[in-house]
Amino acid sequence: MKILVTGGLGFIGSHTVVELLNLGHEVVIVDNLVNSKIEVLDKIEKITKIRPKFYQINLLNKEDLRKVFGENNFDSVIHFAGLKAVGESIEKPLEYYDNNLTGTLNLLKCMRESEVKKLVFSSSACVYGFPKSNPIDESAPCNKATNPYGMTKCFIEQILKDMYASDNSWDFTILRYFNPVGAHSSGLIGEDPNGIPNNLMPYILRVAEGKSEKLKIFGNDYETEDGTCIRDFIHVVDLARGHVKAIEHMTSENGGLHIYNLGTGKGTSVLELVNTFNNVNGDLVKFEFGDRRPGDVPVNFAKTDKAREELGFACEKTIEDMCKDSWNFSKHKK
Ligand code: UD1
Repeated sequence: MKILVTGGLGFIGSHTVVELLNLGHEVVIVDNLVNSKIEVLDKIEKITKIRPKFYQINLLNKEDLRKVFGENNFDSVIHFAGLKAVGESIEKPLEYYDNNLTGTLNLLKCMRESEVKKLVFSSSACVYGFPKSNPIDESAPCNKATNPYGMTKCFIEQILKDMYASDNSWDFTILRYFNPVGAHSSGLIGEDPNGIPNNLMPYILRVAEGKSEKLKIFGNDYETEDGTCIRDFIHVVDLARGHVKAIEHMTSENGGLHIYNLGTGKGTSVLELVNTFNNVNGDLVKFEFGDRRPGDVPVNFAKTDKAREELGFACEKTIEDMCKDSWNFSKHKK
């Protein structure tokens, strides 16, 4: 299959490209390098022995994108490209809406012009906002994100639903990720955020690298066993495999619009993750408890039955693997 991957040099995109190439798919990457590095292309080549075709373009520039479609005959598209920092999105909502929504609209228009009608979209569990109960299943109320970044995911999901309602020859698969962490076992690719991170694992790594003194755990007075928040951490390689399952499923006899959670189905507390990191890698991360972070959901984990039953997808990696692989990437990174 010939697949366009937007944002293919980013954290989840690059791992997905590796899995696709390993299975013999042809991949073309577009990425504007705003939150990724061109060296990732060399790393992908090192891991897979294949160098995918790459275009450095911004999805906001429709003419550039149109050229990519003109030069390639795609079977399908996986769309990762987008801005994703929650805090920044609150400060710069217009930039987030413009970038994520206009970029997606341009992509969909180019797809329609070229009659490429299969898309896997990178959504997020943040569309559920504060869930009524856990595990969260795909039919739970969505459109509930608590910040502009999350709302761009809600709006794009709605755009895809409306497009499908108007023309059911489209095939859309929406994947709602829980909390991706970990890195490729080679240590060559992983999460490498620009600036000071605010997600948990990148911050743990920063402390382990000695760039920050202590991790602050936001709140230990939640109604959970150890008082810290609970999340569904999923290894990025499992997540990448989920995309392969999704794209192969949609190109067999299973067209239509589908929505799947991608998580492990298991909740792990913030404190458990930090303790596991220290157990697996040596006591590298000092921490202290601080106030709750406004907007944090106390408990969030996925119901995974739908992805398992329909896509045959199940996670293989453990929390220990996630901690080990994250640190392995981080300590080798230049
Ligand atoms: C956040 C976003 C979500 C986005 C996801 C991307 C919100 C409300 N949600 O999810 O929309 O899709 O990032 O990965 O912002 N923590 C600490 N100390 C830290 C950093 C985090 O204790 O220095 C805790 C947080 O309080 C939270 C947990 O770790 O309980 C996970 O935080 P984070 O990695 O930011 O992800 P989410 O908040 O789950």
